[in-house]
Amino acid sequence: MSKKIILSGVKPTGRPHIGNYFGAMKQMVDLQNQFADAEKFFMIADYHALNLIQSKEEMAQFTLDLALDYLAIGIDPKQSTLFKQSDVSAHTELAWIFNTITTMPYLMRAHAFKDAEAKNKEINVGTFDYPILMAADILLYDTTLVPVGQDQKQHVEYSRDIAQKFNNVFNTETFNLPEPLIMKGVEIVSGTNGQKMSKSYNNTIPLFATREEITKAVMGIVTDSSGDVPVNVYNIHKLIKSETELKEIYDKNKGKYKILKETLIEDLDTMIKPLRKRRAELEKNTEEIKAILADGAIKAKTKANAKLLTIKKNIGVL
Ligand code: ADP
Ligand code: TRP
Repeated sequence: MSKKIILSGVKPTGRPHIGNYFGAMKQMVDLQNQFADAEKFFMIADYHALNLIQSKEEMAQFTLDLALDYLAIGIDPKQSTLFKQSDVSAHTELAWIFNTITTMPYLMRAHAFKDAEAKNKEINVGTFDYPILMAADILLYDTTLVPVGQDQKQHVEYSRDIAQKFNNVFNTETFNLPEPLIMKGVEIVSGTNGQKMSKSYNNTIPLFATREEITKAVMGIVTDSSGDVPVNVYNIHKLIKSETELKEIYDKNKGKYKILKETLIEDLDTMIKPLRKRRAELEKNTEEIKAILADGAIKAKTKANAKLLTIKKNIGVL
């Protein structure tokens, strides 16, 4: 078996919620801890975010915030390389190379593009090209495993197709094919109104929420009165307690929605408290966070630049 190389990324677009955490970010930490001898890269996808965040102050703030989020949930810079996409220019350079072997109709079939276009016809080229930059992110590191949320599965498939296309066009074995890794049971974490939890739907529980914010969000969970179990409360509860534990709680409190919500508040707070505390500690020393990112940039660049040299040789520009 060849060495595992794990890579994933998150866009710095604001406060993460527990849907982002259970659907995507938690797996990164679990994999880091599970595979001591794998190479691990976790990225702040700031150039992807630039499609949405076009303010100097916001970009700087959200980038620092995301670094804090990663570290607070347990990404350990001793075991993993934590870096900013924009620090490694090989990503955008490889994206250009991939642009030249990818067709427009193929990119037009991407779900994310279709959704964006349905909302706004004046779509920017960066949004259209999003999967190409993501393929470059992944393939520059010879990544074997990409832990992501369900809605990113297609993008990982795109990077496999692009890898294969490159190998065929240039008749080489430059890229291996990365596999997506999606956690079972948390493909779609539902929000306080039962819809998919999302920043855009105003139905989130922030990952680093204060006790007051947790209380407000949970008290606002929409409950219907058709059964004994408030489904929207249960669906969030099952992220943090086992089915057996929940059965006991929900059997004992049939129809008592208020008690069930109070139990959920308590359980969420118990889960979030240590994360909140760790984040507050880290926040006191932003210089150290910047140093971690600078160190990550050096490590990422070393690997990415070496790969880019091979790629450039294989296309005949070197
Ligand atoms: P949002 O919809 O809140 O804007 P993003 O699109 O920024 O979230 O998603 C960031 C990551 O979190 C992605 O990998 C995505 O798959 C995951 N994710 C977001 N919302 C959920 C959810 N409700 N359930 C599971 N995973 C999610
Ligand atoms: N597109 C991903 C998201 O929206 C973020 C991302 C950028 C990413 N580059 C990546 C994820 C490379 C995995 C691998 O969540």
